[in-house]
Amino acid sequence: MLTPLGFSLLRQLSDGAFHSGEDLAATVGLTRARVSQLLKQAETAGLALERVRGRGYRLLATPDFLDVKEIRAALEALGAEVAPPDAKAPLLPAANDDDLVVPGASTIPLHPAIAVEITDQVDSTSTELLRRATRRDIHGALLAAEWQTAGRGRRGRIWTAVAGGSLTFSLGWRFEQGAGFVAGLSLAVGVAVVRALEAEGLSGVELKWPNDLVHRHLKVGGILVELNGDALGPSTVVVGVGLNIRLPQAIKRDIAQPVSDLATVAGRGAPPIDRNKLLARLACELAASLSQYAAQGFMPFAAEWQRRHAYQGKPVRLLLPDGEQVKGTVAGVDSTGALVLADGPRRSRFLAGEISLRRA
Ligand code: BTN
Repeated sequence: MLTPLGFSLLRQLSDGAFHSGEDLAATVGLTRARVSQLLKQAETAGLALERVRGRGYRLLATPDFLDVKEIRAALEALGAEVAPPDAKAPLLPAANDDDLVVPGASTIPLHPAIAVEITDQVDSTSTELLRRATRRDIHGALLAAEWQTAGRGRRGRIWTAVAGGSLTFSLGWRFEQGAGFVAGLSLAVGVAVVRALEAEGLSGVELKWPNDLVHRHLKVGGILVELNGDALGPSTVVVGVGLNIRLPQAIKRDIAQPVSDLATVAGRGAPPIDRNKLLARLACELAASLSQYAAQGFMPFAAEWQRRHAYQGKPVRLLLPDGEQVKGTVAGVDSTGALVLADGPRRSRFLAGEISLRRA
């Protein structure tokens, strides 16, 4: 596990040059033995380090650490409205608070300013925003982490990421509508993510129902949308996105399903992916799509989602939560984001939840 001290060491090493153990120890005020221990932890987290006797340590691939100023500047350059750096999310009303300024159901802004926050380490960016949402208004809150100690995937799985080699972030949003309305939201998020990747020159990523991001059938990212609220609304949503930017081979092998990364999508010889710029682009596309969804629902995204679905018109099998399997051909998605499977003239609809899709 990486600690804040581990991160300050990595930031010093991010110039790619050799740093002696002694120098590193002196700058962070630790013993050389502790420095060596912290750097071993960094290697476990997926960072490639070289040790040379007499010269010290250097990072073989230097990560572009997430930088809040760069992300804010990139967002502004894209025309997004960004909250001031010191803006504090307003409190939500407690049952007996009469004197608070309440962002009530009818005042949820369609286009909130994006409040960017970066942290070195957190259990999960989504868990953290869900915790905050019980008391604060997280509408427009963007939280990205270099390292999640308990990253979560769909269906109770863990989400594996690499410090410096992944993007893991969550965006909070509020909707006046309730759970039924936001059912198709995770699919609209998939469309927004693929648009953002394309805008950054990463083309060829497709969607896999309900919300995987795949390249040549290998997973390069995933989306987890979690919801709090009443059936009738309003609802608070946390959109969690995990992307593999550059995963070491050993980590790829450790992940239970076949995976790839965006560096592979970019291809050999392509310039390295700038995670700060990519995160800004993703946040901008997501904010635009969430606003559009709040106004118009899933319908405006349906045709594009189908066009970007890797399995549109293809034979597939669905694994249902009770262990049953259903076979059919993907006819598309309906206006709520449910998958429509064709079996001869019969059409059946499936809601995302706990279902997984496999190639037949
Ligand atoms: C999946 O494909 O299973 C969804 C993966 C979602 C992972 C992201 S990483 C940022 C956010 N925080 C989490 O703990 N999970 C989501």
